[in-house]
Amino acid sequence: AGSGKFFVGGNWKCNGTKESISKLVSDLNGAKLEPDVDVVVAPPFVYIDQVKNSLTDRIEIAAQNSWIGKGGAFTGEISVEQLKDIGCKWVVLGHSERRHVIGEDDQFIGKKAAYALSEGLGVIACIGELLNEREEGKNFRCLFSTNEGFCSWDNVVIAYEPVWAIGTGKVASPQQAQEVHVAVRDWLRKNVSAEVASKTRVIYGGSVNGGNCAELAKQEDIDGFLVGGASLKGPEFATIVNSVT
Ligand code: G3P
Repeated sequence: AGSGKFFVGGNWKCNGTKESISKLVSDLNGAKLEPDVDVVVAPPFVYIDQVKNSLTDRIEIAAQNSWIGKGGAFTGEISVEQLKDIGCKWVVLGHSERRHVIGEDDQFIGKKAAYALSEGLGVIACIGELLNEREEGKNFRCLFSTNEGFCSWDNVVIAYEPVWAIGTGKVASPQQAQEVHVAVRDWLRKNVSAEVASKTRVIYGGSVNGGNCAELAKQEDIDGFLVGGASLKGPEFATIVNSVT
């Protein structure tokens, strides 16, 4: 882990029922979590209120998406103001599933991020290459176009999630992840500032679990994790939080 405070997010994606989420919340409430770690969970929108009302304040809440600007006549969307109203502190933007399944592009994601930041939400900004981009040696080039849309870097956590590692059980090796995290920091140093490069947390996501987190967490530039599948199991998620070194 690097110099910033370790950050572990649980992205529950489109999973859960009132019942399973109540069990997960009670497991998380009972878990012993290392104090020096920021812990955030991102439930599906419809369960955020339930989670907010039952989960310990030790864990903050993120939304999995937000609208590009103020609310109004935008059927099916959820505004940043509404997220703040129900107690969200963070929003996950640019997740691979929104890019590659739903079709969001860098420009749209950049605008959402700028708006969320301007309204005081923290942004967990996801970037990551497809397998063919890695194989063609483009794995660094594609990572930064989202970042170019950001107006402010306070309150941003970058999540590097190689698309080939998401939900596949095929985790990046600690060296593969470390290499990209260093590249992210270099990009920030050259394009933003040395200060932002050193203080922005760069976390890894893609098949992180209780068994592989410790090796990854030892890498100097891995400042935490964004966890999908394994975040649906309270005790395993706690193991990942506690892998901070
Ligand atoms: O946002 C977390 C994520 O996409 C990784 O999912 O299931 O591979 O941990 P998973």
